Amino acid sequence: MTATLLDGKKLAETIREEIRLATAKFIAETNVQPSLTVILVGENPASQVYVRNKETACIAAGMKSDVIRLPETTSTDELLELIEKLNSDASVHGILVQLPLPKGIDEKRILDAISPEKDVDAFHPENVGLISQGRPRFLPCTPYGIQELLRRYSIETAGKEVVIVGRSDIVGKPMALLMVQKGAAADATVTVCHSRTRDLSEVTRRADILIVAIGKAEFVTADMVKPGAVVIDVGMNRKEKTVIGDDGQPTVKNKLVGDVDFDAVKEVAGAITPVPGGVGPLTVTMLLLNTLNSARQSASNA
Ligand code: GUN
Repeated sequence: MTATLLDGKKLAETIREEIRLATAKFIAETNVQPSLTVILVGENPASQVYVRNKETACIAAGMKSDVIRLPETTSTDELLELIEKLNSDASVHGILVQLPLPKGIDEKRILDAISPEKDVDAFHPENVGLISQGRPRFLPCTPYGIQELLRRYSIETAGKEVVIVGRSDIVGKPMALLMVQKGAAADATVTVCHSRTRDLSEVTRRADILIVAIGKAEFVTADMVKPGAVVIDVGMNRKEKTVIGDDGQPTVKNKLVGDVDFDAVKEVAGAITPVPGGVGPLTVTMLLLNTLNSARQSASNA
């Protein structure tokens, strides 16, 4: 059996075009341009790429994008002061502090300082609480993107066994909160696995929908997947691969791989997301939608 490919890249293009049109309509109606400010501290190479992607996507959607780049030596207090300024700037609708922050900065204090009304990552405890109670202000971008992928590919979730591997605050835990809620693209029976789970393969093989977010290259193998299951791979790992060139000489190249052994698992699964081109492009797309929705909420409160 060869799985259906869940094309996150193509779906992201479709949704981004919808957001672009909705943004143009919003601007025409209100004369307000939705605006996102991203704060990047330090020189983390992966973060630099992610932030550039966010900036490009924002501009393409017709939104205002500001990126504030700060040195590695920035203190918690300096960052708190900047966030306070952005919180009280009515022209800023979304504030995102790119993670991870350099060692020495108090990440919890920083994330807690972002106004919940501008917290387009949905990391603030108030927003997590609202999600938990099924009345979200914003949805966290990666889980929201995955839920949208399931919805738009008409993958039934009601009563299904959803198994999530990984319990991070960014993906695993909020993903579980979304899938367990009442309503469309949810209503699932949810299990969250982690490093202390006993007999992991036995649990993952129960999954009708298996969502993997642990950051370990090709960790999920074919024997861990029930035939016909839907497999969602959130991983983004660099793997060294030796390639023999035309001159017969080996060179080591960096290849981007997920948390799932794609080539083997696609022969067992019913549907699967690739890496790259699966979940990643949807994450940025949902950030755009959260920024537009924040601008809408701000306009309706004005
Ligand atoms: N770093 C990796 N993923 C994310 C994310 O979703 N939001 C932020 N702010 N930083 C990240």
